[in-house]
Amino acid sequence: MITGNESKPNVKNVPGELAKEIIEKDSKFIANTTKASPAVVKNAKGIVFEDVDGNTFFDFTSGVGVVNTGHSHPKIVEAIKNQIERFLHFAGTDFYYDVQVKLAEKLCEITPGDFDKKVYYGNSGAEAVEAAIKMARWSTGKKFFIAFIGAFHGRTMGALGLTASKVVHKQKFFPWMPGVVHVPYPNPYRNPFGIDGYEEPNELVNSVINYIENLFQHFLPSDETAAIFIEPIQGEGGYIVPPKNFFKELFKLANENGILIVDDEIQAGFGRTGKMWAIEHFGIVPHVITTAKAIASGLPLSACIYPAENDFRIKGAHSTTFGGNPVSCASSLATIEVLENGLIKNAEKQGKIMASRLNEMKDKYEIIGDARGIGLMQAIEIVKDKKSKKIDKKTRDEIVEKAFRKGLLLLGCGESGIRFIPPLCINDEQINSAMDIVEEAIKETLS
Ligand SMILES: Cc1ncc(COP(=O)(O)O)c(C=O)c1O
Repeated sequence: MITGNESKPNVKNVPGELAKEIIEKDSKFIANTTKASPAVVKNAKGIVFEDVDGNTFFDFTSGVGVVNTGHSHPKIVEAIKNQIERFLHFAGTDFYYDVQVKLAEKLCEITPGDFDKKVYYGNSGAEAVEAAIKMARWSTGKKFFIAFIGAFHGRTMGALGLTASKVVHKQKFFPWMPGVVHVPYPNPYRNPFGIDGYEEPNELVNSVINYIENLFQHFLPSDETAAIFIEPIQGEGGYIVPPKNFFKELFKLANENGILIVDDEIQAGFGRTGKMWAIEHFGIVPHVITTAKAIASGLPLSACIYPAENDFRIKGAHSTTFGGNPVSCASSLATIEVLENGLIKNAEKQGKIMASRLNEMKDKYEIIGDARGIGLMQAIEIVKDKKSKKIDKKTRDEIVEKAFRKGLLLLGCGESGIRFIPPLCINDEQINSAMDIVEEAIKETLS
């Protein structure tokens, strides 16, 4: 039985016979989604999981950014069990229960900003984003939005209007929500302005701000723009960290024009970067925060936290049956406690070790063009060579596959990035052992 404290994975044969059977049935009966590796989990604990054929792996995906507290953290399992004994559902939309109110109070307390806030509960990230869209339109009467090229905010038709990371998300789905104008994200490594954003961060920031100001002069009425949606670190788009002062400048522009800033923390938030919210690294207070994924350690829950003065003022304007499910809320309260009691600090500590190992690899291997991230939200970008920066998706996929065969589960991000997002309960030995596997996989791919 796995404990979660294993210092190395142990793989004999993947995918084994039992895994193959399940994968075959999955492809027959389950809708085509984004399946990435033939990982067929049987048990999971901490950062470790065991597959159906008895192989053990390190999970460096955290269930795509969900289990920040580690798989099946005992305190969270206990909180879930206690709530299950009481009741499973009672429609918090129409009636009342304590755990939903307690969590809302806590979320308002831990989100930045000393102003009265309210919480809208949904079940998925996309629902939190939809809530932000509707709240912004409802409360301001304005119709337009700004989002960034490379952004991912979800796949429902409203959120999809904001999403601009991969064309496959949008192909064949038009019309999605109209009224969104996309602008370049200040990607220091690759940007349409041809600026080296690491060397000239201010020039890059000014270029993006000027771009938006230009829009306001020529075709986007600033006084009809309801909100700008940001990801503090662009997630699916490639784990891109903007220059330090970008959000300060963007907020200045937004405030001058009475535009709300919606900070989508669905992937970057909940302790992952070594602070509860990734935006805290940039020293600004957003008007609205959307959160989901890690909020309840694996149970479906999302939240949109916004100024109380922007609340829907008519009953029934927006709502959803399962939003704020009591079991999910109990899990979320326990999740916050576990994060505050050490895991956020650990993310900062382990993130430094991981960043230093990834940067060492970047210096050593011509195919790693960039290494970036904050805390335990890191990525490398695989290129043909450092000079041309030409994207090399094939080599990226090969490295991910080789790492998997050695027991390290990874996911790509962006065009040719590899993301590293282990649960925040990881220890030094496990980080180093995972980084050794990454380096072996790179060496084998190059040989
Ligand atoms: C930043 C961000 N926003 C929104 C979403 C959508 O969340 P969900 O898949 O739960 O709808 C995601 C999912 O990856 C995300 O990373």
